Amino acid sequence: MDAGPVSAPVPPGSVHRITSLTNPQVKAIRTLGQRKGRRATGTFLAEGLKLVRDGLEAGWAIESFVYSHTVADQDAVTDAALAARKAGAQILEVTDPIMEKIARRDNPQMVVGVFIQKLHALDTLLSVPDGLWLCLEGIRDPGNLGTILRTAEAAGIDGVVLVGETTDPFGLEAVRASMGSLFHVRLARIDRATFLDARPRWPGRIIGTHLSGKTDYRGVSKARPLTLLMGNEQSGLDDALAETCDELVIIPMRGRADSLNLAVATGIVLFDAALAEA
Ligand SMILES: C[S@@+](CC[C@H](N)C(=O)[O-])C[C@H]1O[C@@H](n2cnc3c(N)ncnc32)[C@H](O)[C@@H]1O
Repeated sequence: MDAGPVSAPVPPGSVHRITSLTNPQVKAIRTLGQRKGRRATGTFLAEGLKLVRDGLEAGWAIESFVYSHTVADQDAVTDAALAARKAGAQILEVTDPIMEKIARRDNPQMVVGVFIQKLHALDTLLSVPDGLWLCLEGIRDPGNLGTILRTAEAAGIDGVVLVGETTDPFGLEAVRASMGSLFHVRLARIDRATFLDARPRWPGRIIGTHLSGKTDYRGVSKARPLTLLMGNEQSGLDDALAETCDELVIIPMRGRADSLNLAVATGIVLFDAALAEA
């Protein structure tokens, strides 16, 4: 009878064991908790075995695979370490106190991966024929961004464009909230001026969502190519960007709330567009 796959140990000599909190590699990984450290290195942290496996399976380049020595003999960890090694990662076995310093404090993970950030050029992102895209202007809340990436991936989006000053999509909280979808969504980041420059050659229509929109979102054409544009959590959509939209739509609200949470509003209009008959 087939006993199923037997995990091979990570070959001896390929694991670096680290016990000192002052080890330079540990210090370097800890800087990835800050935007400055991520910007300087072009890398980011994915915490937890599931997220690391998602990144590996999606083919993202990995620099380091780090695990706590207490989980060293777990098959799932060994398998992931082998896959990471094949993908070119260095394998680091660390003590629990080191892992606690690297990973989040509220729920320390036993495995983390250091991945290389990946962003696409705007023109590459928009080159998909009859695409459906989402633009997020000035999104500030990392939890909202992660939730939106997860929702966008579930809706089958062709790409998400971050416009202007936004929260970092590679920050710990955004990565965590995306539940691995970050690895499956094509992302671009541009400033407002680039958006306005690109507008004349932007494929298809752009529908902006706005509290002073005159049209119910359900009543507009969802024909592709199509882009949905969402505004900032506090100030809404920038006037210059709103003026470039083919249409400004509103999600009618029956209660007394003056607006919906950005991630919720995005989920409503995005799924409506994604599920519309072609
Ligand atoms: C929290 S709202 C911004 C509220 C802001 N005070 C304003 O005046 O726009 C964040 C974004 O979610 C979208 N949004 C939220 N509720 C909406 C609604 N009822 N209709 C259309 N868009 C909405 C818009 O893109 C908006 O810019």
